[in-house]
Amino acid sequence: MNILFATSEAYPLVKTGGLADVCGQLPRALNRQDVTIRIIMPAYAGVVEKAKPAKLLGHCLTSGYRIAILESRLPGTQIKVWLLSCPELYEREGGPYQNNDGEDFQDNALRFGVFARCVVAITMGWTEISWPIDVVHCHDWQAGLIPALLRLHSGAPPSLFTIHNLAYQGLFPYSDFEQLELPPHFWSHHGLEFYNQLSFIKGGIVFADKVNTVSPRYANEITTPEFGCGLDGLLRNRGSDLSGILNGIDVREWNPGTDPNLVSNYNRHSLAKKSANKLELQSLFGLPQDPDIPVFSLVTRLTHQKGIDLVIDAMAMLRRKSVQFTMLGTGDRKLETQLRQLARRRRKSIGIKIAYDEAWVHKTVGGADAFLMPSRFEPCGLTQLYSLRYGTLPIVRNIGGLANTVTHASPENLKNGTATGFTFNNDTAGELKTSIESALTLYKNKTQWQAVQLAGMKQDFSWNCAAQSYTNLYKEIIKTRHRRLQKNAAAKKTARNEVNN
Ligand code: ADP
Ligand code: GLC
Repeated sequence: MNILFATSEAYPLVKTGGLADVCGQLPRALNRQDVTIRIIMPAYAGVVEKAKPAKLLGHCLTSGYRIAILESRLPGTQIKVWLLSCPELYEREGGPYQNNDGEDFQDNALRFGVFARCVVAITMGWTEISWPIDVVHCHDWQAGLIPALLRLHSGAPPSLFTIHNLAYQGLFPYSDFEQLELPPHFWSHHGLEFYNQLSFIKGGIVFADKVNTVSPRYANEITTPEFGCGLDGLLRNRGSDLSGILNGIDVREWNPGTDPNLVSNYNRHSLAKKSANKLELQSLFGLPQDPDIPVFSLVTRLTHQKGIDLVIDAMAMLRRKSVQFTMLGTGDRKLETQLRQLARRRRKSIGIKIAYDEAWVHKTVGGADAFLMPSRFEPCGLTQLYSLRYGTLPIVRNIGGLANTVTHASPENLKNGTATGFTFNNDTAGELKTSIESALTLYKNKTQWQAVQLAGMKQDFSWNCAAQSYTNLYKEIIKTRHRRLQKNAAAKKTARNEVNN
């Protein structure tokens, strides 16, 4: 099977969050399943240098732009990556979507509209590239127009749309719909219109042959008003076309036994060696070094989704307890300022680093005792999976992918050996505080704490299972499309015979 992976991010070429991890890892696991993947993405500033050497395959002319299609490989693999190069649209200072001040680029609709049109042109064989594609696998709103545009052409292959985060929808004014010269019949609530705006994500949800998201629990949640972001009705209508496939992680990069970022490597049989990493973490964050003080950590994009405000409030409630907190993140400027102020007031117990730093993520996951993830919603979440693998107990809200991956340390689960962390139900600082207190109590019982660590470390978080599920889904999509085409052909033949008779 030939699958074209249309994504805006793929690690290590470009990354703002978990989307990049998934699109950098899943193709490798799929390759092992006899699926041939090619990744297609915009050539943002610096990407071509990272992916070097790239060769020119051809061009795509669309919306008044001439886009060069470069072929390279995903670093460290044989997986081909097609980079769409158009410096005017994609090579900018800042991130893939925003300038250095954190403001969205004004022409994002155009940038990702052009991306979609190029993907369609390549898929339909209108460029110099000839590669038969069985399924176009589109990721998140940036690739949302692709399934919609494919529907305009008979003979186009089917598509799969993966929702990594329903909260980011790619909403733009009507003027962008006009500028992109989208067919007028798409401007309807059965098409791309969403409360008088152009919605890129609706392109995927409405027009893709199948839709999936990155955990079974989130797949259910998004069909409810609480988590559906206004799209729950539409998602309910897709019925069994919507499913959830749990993400995996790169178990080679995230391995406490070999991780070069740790001062002391360890595994299930040498857990005692973990504590040297804790001392280093305390020192990195300027906290007093003490192996007996529990360290609770957080690494995240600083956004409303991640419940940072709950952590800030819970830390205030736990002022008198003997516990240290470390936080690594960037994002919302207000949250950044609040966190800095807090750390200044409580230098001995709170350490903050406002940065995007891969090595520090590893050091945090390896050094902390527990990892906080009180998300308001979480499609899957990867950092709790890293933590489980590193014997760092996750404290998470019982929702989305977090609910699918962490088993609460209830007395019963502790007894039967299935507990891997702590979960709480509501997004309140009070419930988070109670969970942290339960963790502090368990921390005093070293034998039980270690049993929970080991239960988490034993689990298999590799991509194998997800890759098998995606392979099955691709096959199902191809079969369903084939059946539909056969049915249509038969219906046409019957109609023709009726006319002739
Ligand atoms: P999301 O995609 O919603 O941000 P995930 O848990 O799926 O959440 O993935 C987050 C990814 O981003 C992880 O690989 C995590 O290590 C990384 N990450 C988050 N914050 C930082 C940071 N400050 N520095 C480096 N990496 C980060
Ligand atoms: C999104 C989600 C996160 C998920 C990631 C990768 O960014 O917020 O929960 O793990 O995508 O699928």
